[in-house]
Amino acid sequence: MLTRPQTAPSFERAQPKPDLLTVADAKALSLADMSALFSAHLNPGQLHFMKLLGFDKVKIESAEGMHYIAADGRRILDFFGGFGSLAFGHNHPRILAARKAFQDEKRHEIAMAFLSQYAAALAKNLAACSPGDLDMVFLGSSGSEAMEAAVKLAERASGRKNCKIVYAENAFHGKTKGVLSLTDSPLYRGEFALVPNGVRVPFGDLAAIERAVAADPDIGVVVLETIQGGGGIVGAPTEFWQGLRALCDRTGIVWVADEVQCGLGRTGRFYAFEHHGVVPDITALAKSLGGGKAAMGAMIARRDLYMKAYGKPKDALIHGPATFGGIGEGCVTAIEALNVLFDEGLIDNAAATGDYLLAQLTMLQEKYPKLIKDVRGQGLMVGLELQDMSRAMPLAVRPMVAVLDDKLKGSLAGFLGAALLREHGVLVAFTEYNRNVIRLEPPLIATRADVDALVAALDAELSGGVIGLVKGFIASRR
Ligand SMILES: Cc1ncc(COP(=O)(O)O)c(C=O)c1O
Repeated sequence: MLTRPQTAPSFERAQPKPDLLTVADAKALSLADMSALFSAHLNPGQLHFMKLLGFDKVKIESAEGMHYIAADGRRILDFFGGFGSLAFGHNHPRILAARKAFQDEKRHEIAMAFLSQYAAALAKNLAACSPGDLDMVFLGSSGSEAMEAAVKLAERASGRKNCKIVYAENAFHGKTKGVLSLTDSPLYRGEFALVPNGVRVPFGDLAAIERAVAADPDIGVVVLETIQGGGGIVGAPTEFWQGLRALCDRTGIVWVADEVQCGLGRTGRFYAFEHHGVVPDITALAKSLGGGKAAMGAMIARRDLYMKAYGKPKDALIHGPATFGGIGEGCVTAIEALNVLFDEGLIDNAAATGDYLLAQLTMLQEKYPKLIKDVRGQGLMVGLELQDMSRAMPLAVRPMVAVLDDKLKGSLAGFLGAALLREHGVLVAFTEYNRNVIRLEPPLIATRADVDALVAALDAELSGGVIGLVKGFIASRR
């Protein structure tokens, strides 16, 4: 009979447990510990910028609805919204409950060997939310992965042998190597060896696309964000989108609409392209698709294109899901999130609260024309462009700014964003390529009162002018 040893075995473990922190240890880390670990193991360069703006001084303990809640009890109003990943706010109760039930019932996650009821239901829901014959779904775990899937399908379905891809100036489609080739940033491209089949055109310029297509019969795909996020919240008029649709219909070019940031109700329609009465051939969603709790991305494509590219059994696995594509709890989270989006009227709220936000910011612009250059956007995807600091700043204070980091020079948005957090507990973001644009992408549950709080904070900071902002910033760093 086998008996359990009364004492621990005397032999040394071949693989001793390393010095591991527990979950409780992680929760209890101090700000100093976090900074040290961030620097040692994550990203020292990024920490430098976080320190510069004072974002290393806040330890977040929890988050709920429109707010982060800091260790000292301070509530931080979230107008950043994780670059559009928090449409439902933080920890939406219905989304939490769906996830908890899934765990309590010990449902399965990895379903590659079996059919997944969760992936099947989510794919059906995404098709139901998508106009036209956008019916076929690929599930992944990030926007980059969804866009990789979109571009690969588009290339294959275009039928062009040496397919070239039109993309836009200031585009952002992700940082994985395939879509990085279509992301228009020398910084992010970092001199990596990229896919050399991109053809770059100005965003929203139909004539430029027509010229490129006329000059190069290999062009088979056009990839565009419907509203450029990283580029500074930049849209294009309806004539452009309708012209693009007509061009693609004429030439058989496949149009991929990247809705990773602007989709899922953010602009007041489920997809931003719906404002223009057109339907692309392939689109991609991510960010808020995960309900603010899961990493989810999806490509949604016309069925005929999908079948042309991957419809035959021998082609089915050319671009099948990766290990976590369609993971159970992620799918259930997204299924509940899509239901919440409609049950709670969040798309309509994005339209109405977004109109109010734009109107309030436009009034601020009229009050501070020397500081605010432009207010633009749609729904709750809004950009507030500040004047270039070098123009807005009196000569007398320029030397003060010289003490600051090089990268921040000229960026009024940096000073303003830091002051909003420090003095008012309001969180905003910048856009990748135009650092003078404050990006406002709050949860779609935002109310007029939230907008009023943001606008009051902006007003208070802008009323001190550039000198007030710079002085406040310098004082905060002493
Ligand atoms: C328009 C757009 N496409 C793709 C991506 C990439 O998404 P992810 O960061 O989830 O890989 C982003 C991310 O910001 C985005 O804004």
